[in-house]
Amino acid sequence: MKIDLIAAARPNFMKIAPLYHELKNDKDVKARIIHTGQHYDRNMFEDIFKDLELPNPHVSLGIGGGTHAYQVGSLMIEYEKQLLKDRADLVIVVGDVNATMACAVTAKKLHIPVAHLEAGLRSFDMTMPEEINRMVTDSISDYFWTPSIDGNENLVRSGIDPQKIEFVGNIMIDSLEMMREKIEREDIDKKFNLNRKDFVLVTFHRPSNVDNKERLSKIVDKLISLSQKIKVVFPIHPRTLQNLKNFFLFEKLQKEKNILISEPLSYKQFMKLIFECRFVLTDSGGIQEETTYLKIPCLTLRDNTERPVTVTKGTNTLVTLENVDENIEKILNGNYKKGEIPLLWDGKTALRVHKEIRKIGNF
Ligand code: UD1
Repeated sequence: MKIDLIAAARPNFMKIAPLYHELKNDKDVKARIIHTGQHYDRNMFEDIFKDLELPNPHVSLGIGGGTHAYQVGSLMIEYEKQLLKDRADLVIVVGDVNATMACAVTAKKLHIPVAHLEAGLRSFDMTMPEEINRMVTDSISDYFWTPSIDGNENLVRSGIDPQKIEFVGNIMIDSLEMMREKIEREDIDKKFNLNRKDFVLVTFHRPSNVDNKERLSKIVDKLISLSQKIKVVFPIHPRTLQNLKNFFLFEKLQKEKNILISEPLSYKQFMKLIFECRFVLTDSGGIQEETTYLKIPCLTLRDNTERPVTVTKGTNTLVTLENVDENIEKILNGNYKKGEIPLLWDGKTALRVHKEIRKIGNF
């Protein structure tokens, strides 16, 4: 069975890695990694592939950055060429980035079955490009592998046959467990001169937070005031960096003594900082899950989340710029919730997906 694993942007790499490693020794399966090129910088792509011990992609489509229509259109054209040249028997798409949707549609139109890993998540916020990607992908996929029960419920509610849905758990946790010892050996915290639990780790990249000058300016002010209380470590995503520079906010951040800014970090480096930090302030999806699993407090500056289990069970809280301070106080005073680990976030998701693949292939 020839399987394509679609890897486009940074968060996809942590989702395909455990699956690739799980499948590589199965003689009945030939898995090939398709890198679409949405994330292409060394520190957004190669460093992470290397950390996750992935081989070079078997196919690189070379679609770089651009508008949504450019990305989706170019991806469909290039991936269709690829499939016509060398057809797959199953296409596995992960997460909710533009390639998830574009490659799912392309494969489906060529009558190739599509499996969506991390199916069923919904923020119910149609201003998020990811919500559209999730909805379109889930409306045409053949197999739905969900990370949490809310995913199953959302899919059933939208009319998907429950027989096609399998609750497999959270594949990101597999990456974390697979790499745990190596993460622990990382010394980025020493290099940055950071003491355990003595800093907050910050990431922002959502268009809703970083594409608007006024909003980004308020976030920068918040970080500056936070840095009076605790050291702030801020690895900056390329989208955010571009906007900080365009809005003349970058120098303001650079001047702050208690704010340590850096380029995007590799997987192991970043995870080491999560292990060591006091709490995380973010708008990322994946980090909400990793912190819940590690029971590290996470404040998410968003109005909604497609990962509600991180709030109801885990250590995540959705915050606004108005109420973030009271939540920070709770964390610093030791009054913050402790959290529980959601069901099937156990590092064995790739194994369960492998079983599903063998069922699909009848072997
Ligand atoms: C994308 C995903 C988002 C995911 C995020 C993780 C979509 C719609 N968005 O958003 O769901 O949470 O990745 O990071 O698919 N850039 C570089 N170098 C790179 C990558 C990007 O300079 O290696 C630049 C791009 O050229 C672009 C900007 O950063 O100008 C944003 O990149 P893009 O991939 O469009 O969106 P993300 O914000 O990364």
